[in-house]
Parts: sequence; C-alpha cells; structure tokens
Amino acid sequence: MGREFLEIFEQWADSYDDTVVGHDMEYLEVFSHYEQILDLVVARSHGHVVEFGVGTGNLTQKLRLKGLAVTGIEPSPSMRKISVEKLGDDALILDGDFLHYPNIENIDTIVSTYAFHHLTDDEKAIAIAGYSKLLSKSGKIVFADTMYETEEDYNCAIVKAKTEGFHSLAKDLETEYYTTIPVLKHIFEKNGFSVSFTKCNEFVWLMEGVKQ
Ligand SMILES: C[S@@+](CC[C@H](N)C(=O)[O-])C[C@H]1O[C@@H](n2cnc3c(N)ncnc32)[C@H](O)[C@@H]1O
Repeated sequence: MGREFLEIFEQWADSYDDTVVGHDMEYLEVFSHYEQILDLVVARSHGHVVEFGVGTGNLTQKLRLKGLAVTGIEPSPSMRKISVEKLGDDALILDGDFLHYPNIENIDTIVSTYAFHHLTDDEKAIAIAGYSKLLSKSGKIVFADTMYETEEDYNCAIVKAKTEGFHSLAKDLETEYYTTIPVLKHIFEKNGFSVSFTKCNEFVWLMEGVKQ
C-alpha cells in the first residue's frame, strides 16, 4: 500500500512543472505561493535532509542551493528521471516511498511537499513512528501538504470544487487521503514530537514536528 496513485504521476511527470506555475486552472489555488511554500520548508531544514516524494526535484534543488546534503526518495521512475535531469548526476534520488526506503543514517531533517496525502491515516501513523526512531532529539519533520482543520472543512472543499466545475480536483480530494490537523497532531505527539501548523494557501499547511 502507499503506492496506489503512482500511475497518475507516471502520466503527469512531463507536465508537472507547468501545473505548479499555474497552467492548470483547477490546481491554481493548490499551487498558489508554491515557490514560497518550498522556501519555507528549506528555511526550517538543516543538516542531512531526507526528502520523500521528490517529484521533479524542485524542493531538492532549493535544499541543495542552501548547501544541505539531500537524500531523495521517489517511487515514480518518470519523476526520478526528470529530477536527475534537473539536478545533475551527483544528486542522490533513490527508489522508495514513505513506508519503504533504503537504510539511511544520521538524518537531521525529513521533508516532503504535496505528497503525504498518498498515505491513509493508518499508514501516516506507521510512517511517523518509523521516522521518530530515525531522528535524534531536536531532529525535525517538515511537511507541506493539503490538510483541513475539520472534516466539515474537508467536505466543504469537495462541494466547492464541484460547484466551480473543477471535477478533477473534486475527484482527487475524494479519492486521495487528505486528513485533518487534529489527526496529524495526535500522530506526531504520540511519537514524541511537538508540532505546529501554519496555513500557506486555501489548501496547503506547513507542518513542523520537532523531536522532544
Ligand atoms: C504532487 S507531487 C509533489 C512533488 C514535489 N514534492 C513537489 O512539491 O513539487 C507528489 C509526488 O509524490 C510521489 N508519491 C506518490 N506516492 C508516494 C508514496 N507512497 N511515497 C512517496 N512519494 C509518493 C509521486 O510520485 C510524486 O512525485
């Protein structure tokens, strides 16, 4: 489990960078302030960074420009190919996913943008429990993704997308595993993290967990 949406990314890889700059009206708001959202993740990262769901390598590139060592994990072969073309052959982009990844040591920060919703809530809990074992005190998890303050807000977002005629977005919201801040807060705290949430646009929040 956890890789059931991969075919979408195999198809989307070639045009993904057009979507993030606003060429797809349905996803305009999802990706609004995209560059600034990635910059926020970079600003809160330090040391050896592990990035899950690298995609076309946009966050990886920014992390490397800051001088950080990045180990990227990405399950889609098409996305991996584009990211390596963008980043250069010395970039370390490995096959793996949030739940299955190579043995990596001495990790300071675990980051991800626009990807954690590919796991169910149960899988999210398994993933965070695993990362808790990999991080030392003050180690961080910094994720930006779509999430909602309440279930009601989530349902309203689906209705709004349908009303606006954004049927792909509505289907995406209905089929992938978007969750709520209380669910995530519970998972992080249960695994020994203090956690904070910052709203970035109508969909995306920045979530920062610090290992206590
Ligand atoms: C919307 S893209 C985000 C790409 C990039 N992080 C960004 O912010 O532009 C989602 C990425 O997550 C990857 N993905 C899908 N399922 C995943 C999983 N179970 N574990 C890790 N990454 C996954 C996809 O292949 C895709 O590259």
